[in-house]
Amino acid sequence: MNVQELSTFQVAALAEIAAAGTLADVETLRIKYIGRNGLLQGIMQDLKTVPPADRPEFGRQANVLKQALGEALDQRRGALQASAAQTGLRLDTTLPGLWRGLGRRHPITCVIEEVARIFSRLGFTVADGPDIETEYHNFDALNTPGDHPSRDIQDTFWLESGELLRTQTSPVQIRVMERQQPPIRIIAPGRCYRRDTTDATHSANFHQVEGLYVDRRVSMADLKGDITFFAREMMGADVKVRFRPHFFPFTEPSVEYDFSCHMCHGRGCRVCKNSGWIEISGAGMVDPRVFKIVGIDAAQFTGYAFGMGVERIAMIKYGIEDIRHLYENDLRFLEQFA
Ligand code: DAH
Repeated sequence: MNVQELSTFQVAALAEIAAAGTLADVETLRIKYIGRNGLLQGIMQDLKTVPPADRPEFGRQANVLKQALGEALDQRRGALQASAAQTGLRLDTTLPGLWRGLGRRHPITCVIEEVARIFSRLGFTVADGPDIETEYHNFDALNTPGDHPSRDIQDTFWLESGELLRTQTSPVQIRVMERQQPPIRIIAPGRCYRRDTTDATHSANFHQVEGLYVDRRVSMADLKGDITFFAREMMGADVKVRFRPHFFPFTEPSVEYDFSCHMCHGRGCRVCKNSGWIEISGAGMVDPRVFKIVGIDAAQFTGYAFGMGVERIAMIKYGIEDIRHLYENDLRFLEQFA
C-alpha cells in the first residue's frame, strides 16, 4: 500500500464503521481493523516495503488512520448505546393511563377533623404546639411537682438537650395563654409520646385533642354541657357521659369522664372490659396557679380544660378492638374507612 492507497482505505473503513447497525457489528469491525491481527497491523508491516523517501509520510498517515479508526468505532458504539437506552424508555402516549388508586383519610385524621368540626360550632379554633417540648411547658407551667412520677424516665422520652417529647397536649394550653388574654377558646390536636409498652390498648405514640375555654364566669356546668354536646355529636344521641372525681395538677377540681360503650350500648363487652363505659380522658377547671404562671388574672377569669384520647374515640366509634391496627398501615384495614 502506498500513501495514496492509504487514504482511500481510510475513507472506505470509516464509511463501513459509520454504517454498523449493532454493537456486535462494531465489535467485529474493531477486530477487523485495529485488532491484534487486524488490517492496521498489516499496514504497519508494509512500512518496510515503502521506499525510504516516502516512509515518514506513510508513517504519519498510518498514525492518522489508526486514531481515526479508534475514534470512529467509539463514536458509533456510543451512538448505538444511546439509542438502545432511548428505545427502552420510549413513551406510547396512546396507551391508557395507569390507575394509582384513590387514597383515604386515616381514621385518626377523620376523628381529629370531626372533633374540630364539632367544637368549631361552639366557637373553638384550632391551636398548635411543638412535639418536642420544654420541661417547663410540659410539666412546670402545668403545676406538676418536680417529683411527679410522670416526669420519670420510665414515662417520658427525654432528649439529650434536656427537652422532651410531649407526654400530653396540655402544654399547648400554656403556649396559648402565654400569648393571648381571655376570651380563649381553642382545641389543640396532636401527637403525644410515652414510654408505654405497646399492647391492645396502649401505644408509645398516640394522639390527644386538648381543649381550653377561658373567660369570665366559665363554670363546671359549661364543661359538662360542652363535653356532653360533643359526645352526642360524635357518638350519636343515645350516648351517656359520666364524670368521676379525679386529680390533675393543672385543674381544680378535676374529673375523668367516660362515654357509654358504643359497641355494646352499656351492656358490657370486650372493648369496655364489661364495664359498659369507656374512659375518654381528663378535664377540670383551670387551676388558679396555672393562671398565675401565665399571667392571667384569676380574680377575673375562670376556665375549663379537657384532654381526649383520639385513639379511644376512634376505637369505640368504629369498633376497632386493637389500637395497633391504627399504626400498621394494613390496606385491608385502612380501606374500610371511606
Ligand atoms: N393531660 C392529661 C393526660 O394526658 C389529660 C387532661 C386532664 C387534660 C385534665 C386536661 C385536663 O386539659 O384539664 O392525662
